[in-house]
Amino acid sequence: MEFAGIKGFRDILPDEAAGWQRLEAGARGLFEAFGFQEIRTPILEKTGLFSRSIGQETDIVSKEMYSFKDIKGRGLTLRPEATASVVRAYIQHRPYQKYQIQKFFSIGPMFRHERPQKGRFRQFHQINAEFFGDAGPKSDADMIIMAMCLFERIGIDDISLNLNSLGCPDCLPRFRERLKAYLTNKTSMLCPDCLRRAETNPLRVFDCKVESCNEVVVDAPSILDFLCQACEEHFSSLQKYLRGSEIPFVLNRRLVRGLDYYNRTTFEIQTEHLGAQNAVAGGGRYDGLVKLLGGPDHPAIGFAVGMERVIALLETKETRELKVPDLFIASLGETAEMTSFRWVETLRKSGLWVEMDYGSKGLKSQMKKAGRLGAKKVLIVGDNELESGKGILRDMLAGDQVEVELDDIVNSLEKVAGK
Ligand code: HAM
Repeated sequence: MEFAGIKGFRDILPDEAAGWQRLEAGARGLFEAFGFQEIRTPILEKTGLFSRSIGQETDIVSKEMYSFKDIKGRGLTLRPEATASVVRAYIQHRPYQKYQIQKFFSIGPMFRHERPQKGRFRQFHQINAEFFGDAGPKSDADMIIMAMCLFERIGIDDISLNLNSLGCPDCLPRFRERLKAYLTNKTSMLCPDCLRRAETNPLRVFDCKVESCNEVVVDAPSILDFLCQACEEHFSSLQKYLRGSEIPFVLNRRLVRGLDYYNRTTFEIQTEHLGAQNAVAGGGRYDGLVKLLGGPDHPAIGFAVGMERVIALLETKETRELKVPDLFIASLGETAEMTSFRWVETLRKSGLWVEMDYGSKGLKSQMKKAGRLGAKKVLIVGDNELESGKGILRDMLAGDQVEVELDDIVNSLEKVAGK
C-alpha cells in the first residue's frame, strides 16, 4: 500500500473507541469533581518552550522531538507533553489574578520520536492535570488521590504507586555532587551518553535504558538521604495524607522521571502487565517552572496518564465492543422506500441509531445487510404493508417477529427503544 500510516502513528478503530470514550468520560467527571477545568492548548509550540522546560539533557529534548522550521524559519515543535504548554497558557492569560488556586485538565495527542514497541508510540495520548498555586503537601496528596481514583473508577486495581522526592534547590545540589563523585568511579560501565550526563546532569543516568548503566545506579546514593529538613517534612506529611486516605504506595528511591522540571514530590503509577513500558501515569511537583518560563513565582504539581497504556490494560480485562444499530428498516417498493426514508431520518433525530439500504435491493439482500451490521431489530415495510397499515418487526437477537401497526410507528419504535 502506497500511503499506509506512519510508523508509530496508529489509527484508533471503531471497536476500540468505546474504551477511549469511557476513559475520557471517567476522567472528565472525576476531575471536574476535584475542581479541574478543561484547557485545550495548541499541538504546535515554539521549540524553545519545550527545550527550556523539559531540559536540554533529557532524551525527550535531545532525541525525540518532532521539530522543524516553518516557512518563515521559526523553530516549532509538535508537543511532546502538555505541561509546558499549559504553563505557557497560564502565564499568558494570568487566570491567577482572579483566584490563586488554578486547576486544569486536558486530553490530547503528544508526539515523541521514540522507538515504537508495545505500549510506546510516536503519537500517543495523555490525560493531563495541572494544579497551580499551592506549595504544600496537601495538594500533592490531592493530585495523587485523584490519579488513583481515576484508575479505580475505570476498574483497574492492580497498579502500584511509586513515590519519591527530588528535593529542592537547597538540597538537590548536594546530592548531585555526591552522585557525580559516585559516577566518576564507574565510568568504565557508563554508556557514552551517560558519560556526558555524569558531568552535565547526573540524575539523568537513572533514566538510561542501557543495561550496564542500570547496574551502576543500583548502588548509587539516594536523594532521600540528602533531603533538607523542609523537604523531609513535606515528604513525610504527604505520606501521612496518603496513609490517612488508605492509598497504598511504595518508596522508589531511583524514580527521577524523564523531565528536568521536577522538584520535591515525584510519582509514577506502574503496572506489571505491559512489559517494559510499565508506567501508566507519572507526574510530580514543578515549583520553579512558571518562573523559569517568565511567569510569577508560583508553585505547581501535575501528572499525565498514558491513554494507550490504560486502554491496553482495560483490554486485558474485557473484550472490545462494537456498537450496533438499534433498528434497520427494510423497504420494498417505491412508496415504502420514500416513507421509510422519512421514518429513518425522524427516528435518528430522536437519538436512535437507524440504518437502511442505500441501494434499492431486494428484501433478502437487505436482511443480509441488517444481519452483517448486527442490527437489533428490523422493520419490514413494502407497499402492500403500507396499504394494509401493518408491517413486520423482526427481533434479530431472539429470531422472532411480530406484526406492528404502521399508523403511529415512529412513536411506538421510540417507545420500544426507550427514547
Ligand atoms: P511522562 O512520564 O513523560 O510525563 O508521560 C506520562 C505518561 O505518558 C507515561 O507514564 C506514559 O504512560 C505515557 N507515555 C509517555 N510516552 C509515551 C509513548 N511514547 N507512548 C505511549 N505512552 C507514553 C509527562 O509527560 C509529564 N508532562 C507529566 C506531568 C504533568 N508532570 C507534571 N504535570
